[in-house]
Amino acid sequence: MPTDYDPIAELYQLSKRQPWRTHVEAHTLLGLIGDVSGLSVLDVACGEGFYTRLLKQRGASRVVGVDLSAGMVELARTQEAGHRLGISYQVGDARNLAFDGEFDLVVAAYLLNYARDRSELAAMCAGIARCLKPGGRFVTVNSNPATHFPTVPSFRKYGFEAANAGTGNWREGSPIRWKFYLDGQAFEIENYYLDVAAHEVALTAAGFLNIRWHAPQLAPQGEADFGLDFWSLLLTQCPVAFLECTR
Ligand SMILES: C[S@@+](CC[C@H](N)C(=O)[O-])C[C@H]1O[C@@H](n2cnc3c(N)ncnc32)[C@H](O)[C@@H]1O
Repeated sequence: MPTDYDPIAELYQLSKRQPWRTHVEAHTLLGLIGDVSGLSVLDVACGEGFYTRLLKQRGASRVVGVDLSAGMVELARTQEAGHRLGISYQVGDARNLAFDGEFDLVVAAYLLNYARDRSELAAMCAGIARCLKPGGRFVTVNSNPATHFPTVPSFRKYGFEAANAGTGNWREGSPIRWKFYLDGQAFEIENYYLDVAAHEVALTAAGFLNIRWHAPQLAPQGEADFGLDFWSLLLTQCPVAFLECTR
């Protein structure tokens, strides 16, 4: 079963405060996204709006967030109501988005790893492509399709683990189980494994060009606060991967 985010929406929001989220995930993703001033931006699988808000605060002209989970969208709308940025949030499925060539940029943090097979991945990529203007960009971060999750090391010191030991027959569609540790609490989510080639086939079929994978980058503040040694495992065996392409 794909993870239902409604019951874990608030815990997931708390997990975005873990230092690796700021110093590696957000630093790398926002670096790839670059200058968004004046751009129309769609954040698919926006969750409670972590990146949606950052994109608007960085000068995007129109920002829309879409997510399958009503609980996540509710959390996003509550924050918008408390501090208005002019973002519109909708409940929706990446495979059936109702926008037609309206956006300069689509961002999707941890969406593609919800595809359980190549046809779901193709539907997500096609749905995203339909939202983009010709020449528009798609930038995303997901579970790393180059990682062999049954033998991945522990990332517990960063506050999470990929608990897949003993999953044996590792193949397309195998579940990737993540466990996040917060102060005194923990929660789990489940994604699915599809390899690098499956992603490139789906993106190409959807009309994307210039597909580029990117390694994680460490923010200078992360190095200053924790030291390079602390980050070396995450940077050398990173279980998440960054990707950009152009329609
Ligand atoms: C790990 S959360 C990421 C949320 C947000 N992008 C972030 O980085 O904080 C993954 C999100 O993907 C959403 N999701 C999964 N499948 C989806 C689909 N087919 N269409 C839209 N959202 C989807 C889930 O509801 C969940 O909120």
